[in-house]
Amino acid sequence: MTLTPLDRAKCAAACRAADFVEGGMKVGLGTGSTAAFLIRRLGERWREEGLRFRGVPTSTRTADLAREEGIEVISLEEARWLDLTIDGADEVDGSLNLIKGGGGALLQEKIVATASDRMVVIADAGKRVETLGAFPLPVEVVPFGWTATRALIEEVLVGMDVLGRTTSLRMNGDMPFVTDEGHYIIDLHLNRIGNARQLSLVLNQIPGVVENGLFLDICDTLVMGHGDGRVEVH
Ligand code: 5RP
Repeated sequence: MTLTPLDRAKCAAACRAADFVEGGMKVGLGTGSTAAFLIRRLGERWREEGLRFRGVPTSTRTADLAREEGIEVISLEEARWLDLTIDGADEVDGSLNLIKGGGGALLQEKIVATASDRMVVIADAGKRVETLGAFPLPVEVVPFGWTATRALIEEVLVGMDVLGRTTSLRMNGDMPFVTDEGHYIIDLHLNRIGNARQLSLVLNQIPGVVENGLFLDICDTLVMGHGDGRVEVH
């Protein structure tokens, strides 16, 4: 299979991070195209090296792929605590703060990552930014009263240090996109987030908001791949 430079970058990062997994570990498995490269590589190690670990998926998509690869899948309830989580990201800044949720799995991803001793992010170099916010920030909301929740989000954005303030309900064709937990996602088009910590706190205080896609002080290590196959570890 011929990979595009972007896929080569994702694959290089994912394959390097797959080496962090050791026998007997409990490992959080992220969601998205970069995480899919990781899971396929871990499947190879499972079959070829006899690597045995237990994986906790962050979405039904990831659970299906991990099972296809023959990886033992357990729930977070069974695992209780994880040695390591490896996941992709939509943006990463110099302090390893992230925007996640482009694939709609941010809630399970955040729960799994924060229940881990270590979180490793795998990303192509295009995800690295100076300041978070060019990628729309996903906010997971309860469907009940979502228009009122959206209005409240727009109201609090007025007082925030951001450059854009438009919002959109994420769609799946003609219908709202529905997360694995049965929620909707409102994407915030902010262009630049001046104070991510304040924004995250304020958003999560709105009653209909379940969680937002800012991952602050959660990621420990960034494994960044380049189109020529080079990998940097930060
Ligand atoms: C899913 C995520 C993904 O990790 C993020 O969207 C990156 O995806 P990809 O690896 O396909 O670029 O947060 O909710």
